[in-house]
Amino acid sequence: MVQDNSARQNEVAIIGAGVIGLSIAWRLAQRGLPVTVFDKGEAGQGASHAAAGMLAACAEIEPSEERLLTLNRASQALWPAFATELEAASGLPVELRTEGTLMVALTADDAAKLRNHAELQGRLGLPVSWLSGRDLRRLEPALAPGVAGGVSSPEDHQVDNRKLAQALRVAALRAGVTLVENTPIEGLALKDGRVAGVTTAAGLREAGRVVLAAGPWSRGIPGLPAEARPAVRPVKGQMLALAMDPAAPLLRHVVWAPGVYLVPRLDGRLIVGATVEEKGFDTAITAGGLLSLLHSAWRALPGIEELPVLETWVGHRPGSRDDAPIFGAGPVEGLVYATGHHRNGILLTPITAKLISDFILSGKMDPMGEPFGFGRFMRAAAA
Ligand code: FAD
Ligand code: GLY
Repeated sequence: MVQDNSARQNEVAIIGAGVIGLSIAWRLAQRGLPVTVFDKGEAGQGASHAAAGMLAACAEIEPSEERLLTLNRASQALWPAFATELEAASGLPVELRTEGTLMVALTADDAAKLRNHAELQGRLGLPVSWLSGRDLRRLEPALAPGVAGGVSSPEDHQVDNRKLAQALRVAALRAGVTLVENTPIEGLALKDGRVAGVTTAAGLREAGRVVLAAGPWSRGIPGLPAEARPAVRPVKGQMLALAMDPAAPLLRHVVWAPGVYLVPRLDGRLIVGATVEEKGFDTAITAGGLLSLLHSAWRALPGIEELPVLETWVGHRPGSRDDAPIFGAGPVEGLVYATGHHRNGILLTPITAKLISDFILSGKMDPMGEPFGFGRFMRAAAA
């Protein structure tokens, strides 16, 4: 059957089946739009597979990121209902854990730095409190005996990002999304200056809207006009997982210590992350990377010494020029950006899915998403 033009205009093609592309697809299909998601590999195997799954709006705040904080906190607030809805829609667990996060200092110097960070968090009205070393060890007895103090951040939770990607895949399929895996997008089709679809080895797939959700690969999608390439680069992260006894885990909270974070999963995996490296798409796991992570982890949690190493891996964060995501319209009509989530893509999944699906359906960007437009980089370049 040949579709008429208006039916094709309704079609949405999404480039990238990570948590961002899949969650947008799910939301759009729930609202009746025909959606096809393409991935060069299997769904959920990019940055979304590599992440630690922390929903760390408060712990990860940096000076000068106040605008991003509003978005991060809004998404954090959406997480509990999002997880419940997704688990019901997919029949799969995403393991949202709500014990919260502890940031620990091991020396007087660390403690002074952490107090500075806690002051910033306090100024921004974040719900954090200072704990003594004894308080911290009462909460997490396996922490190093000399722990000098730290910050409790009870609203920074975690989710199992690999399970999240699988649940989104199933929920999207159940909602009617077409998922085309192992099929790289080879070009963006343009007609009369606007998007007409995407091309793959199988030919042209017409679509009135194309969502660019290719994570760290977003800048390199073939066929993107130069002026439409988003300022996104890969930021390498090495990680590893250790095997705790799930019946007697060393940790229950997410813990940040100098040089490392530790994320305990329900099945006993202890995620140890992560390096931050400007090395393009390099995938080497290095002795130095693992040494630094393990040494920092061991100083905070000496009991890891006997734990088996389960896995090591490398992922690439989609880092934008200002470390904030890129949402909505750009220089090519019909091309919609949902990329550049850098260190926070798992945290930002619920709000991104909402903002981008609302934008596609209404043509208007919610004020919450306005500061994150493609245009901010064009203005900066022109100034
Ligand atoms: P991806 O998951 O990378 O998905 C993009 C998809 O596009 C991929 O599946 C890829 O195959 C596909 N693709 C690429 N090119 C093409 C093409 N030509 N055609 C078709 N498909 C294509 N965030 C948090 O919130 N909390 C954390 O604790 C956290 N920890 C992290 C730790 C590490 C080490 C890393 C690397 C990241 C971490 N992040 C974390 C960030 C988070 O992982 C990302 O921001 C998020 O996963 C981005 O999702 P995405 O869907 O945009 O990208
Ligand atoms: N948000 C944790 C990381 O990017 O390593």
